[in-house]
Amino acid sequence: MAVNFKRMCEKDFDVAVVGAGPGGYVAALRCAQWGLKTALIERRELGGTCLNEGCIPAKSLLHSTGLFKEILTRGAANGIVCAGAPVMDVAALQARKNAVVQKLRGGVQTLLDKRGVERFAGEAVLEAAHCVRVQMAEGEPILVRAKHVVWATGAKAAQLPFLPFDGETILSSREAMALERVPASLAVVGAGAIGLEIASVWARLGSKVTVVEALPQVAPGFDLDVAQMAERLIKRLGGFSIETNARVKGFADGVLAYEKNGKGFQVAAEKVLVAVGRVPQTDGLAEAGVMLDEKKRIVVDANFRANVEGFYAIGDTVAGPMLAHRAEAEGEAVARHIAQKAVPHATAVPAVVYTTPELACVGLTQTQAEAQGVEVKISKFPFAANGRALANDATEGFVKLVGDANTKKLLGAQIFGAGAGELIATVAAHLAHGASVADVAHTMNAHPTLSEAIKEAALAWEGEPLHTL
Ligand code: NAI
Repeated sequence: MAVNFKRMCEKDFDVAVVGAGPGGYVAALRCAQWGLKTALIERRELGGTCLNEGCIPAKSLLHSTGLFKEILTRGAANGIVCAGAPVMDVAALQARKNAVVQKLRGGVQTLLDKRGVERFAGEAVLEAAHCVRVQMAEGEPILVRAKHVVWATGAKAAQLPFLPFDGETILSSREAMALERVPASLAVVGAGAIGLEIASVWARLGSKVTVVEALPQVAPGFDLDVAQMAERLIKRLGGFSIETNARVKGFADGVLAYEKNGKGFQVAAEKVLVAVGRVPQTDGLAEAGVMLDEKKRIVVDANFRANVEGFYAIGDTVAGPMLAHRAEAEGEAVARHIAQKAVPHATAVPAVVYTTPELACVGLTQTQAEAQGVEVKISKFPFAANGRALANDATEGFVKLVGDANTKKLLGAQIFGAGAGELIATVAAHLAHGASVADVAHTMNAHPTLSEAIKEAALAWEGEPLHTL
């Protein structure tokens, strides 16, 4: 369609970034920091899904409800005496979450402003190579011309055709995290990170929660032994039901129907959360000549360049795990490429599910390594044999290390237990430096810490277990 550019206000930049999530705003910050005239276009709030309706609000809710559940279930054993049973004020819970989000948004805004990124509040449409039309939230459209255009528009919740989102009863994660009262019952479709985390939040506050998962295991991407142990413990400690190998059939009159082992089941559900993955927001790009794959992801090369000249894409819009830190790393990498700086070698992507206990992985799982034809050796160390875990009343779970039996290189780890999300950083650092399992075994950890379990797993891998037999 012909566009009358003359009638539009035009602005020229070195770089125009579309989308202010962790991928886009980091790319914009870096480009500006490295001397490039940079525009950042966003139709909603700064911070994207991660900050506004994903990672950060979820962790705020998980923190508050975790504290509540701890006091409720373990307070007395730890000498905490309450005059009556603790009560959760859901309005205050949500207000705290909103304040955390607001504060971080303000931080992003300050960084962008101080580094001289010019912001446009509006909807971006790719008109042609180097040309982005911005339909401003207020006022006339603006044509942003840039030598380099970085597309970082993220993803949105996938819908099930027979359970379309209505914002009231059938919810996406956005609405499920903003509920103003605890639903009497909640059915969650999908036992990925989103399903398990939001199930944890509302179950801790007394909602009767059932998670229905089509696959034989929770947490896709983890080894089966880890996922099965996780399922058992998450059910017990999280206080909700999980039905694996279960196919949702439909929802009517407050009842979710599903099928398992050929039999039909029903579960009461005041609300239904559908968390069956996310789809890239790449609408309109194919019309502008950008090549997409069968999952509507933008096809890019190793430097994030698509087939249209000067056009790059990062984060959830391209193939790879849909994780904020991966988008951030790609935002930095694409900025380095544009600014012609050396791009550091890419490292393994950690992933965490923030349940009780937490589930974390980095590098290759056993299944993935074996699929690559590697002769794999694994080792495990249980938190039950770790002094700090005992002191913390957090003895559930284990560390599983995956190494190459021939080269002795560390390939990956999965940690299931309290603080796994923080602990996995140690393994990520080892992987980034190409460590052997022996390097992990010979690292000194502070005592008493949960991190000693990683060293102990490495000692066991080496055939010299210390605190296990
Ligand atoms: P997911 O792809 O991780 O999990 C979706 C689950 O739904 C899968 O186990 C799948 O088998 C199941 N499923 C699909 N269709 C189904 C059906 N009809 N009935 C029952 N089960 C069905 O997707 P999720 O949890 O929605 O997360 C989306 C993305 O966001 C993922 O890439 C995830 O890693 C990321 N994310 C990461 C978080 C973290 O790092 N803590 C938190 C939230 C999201």
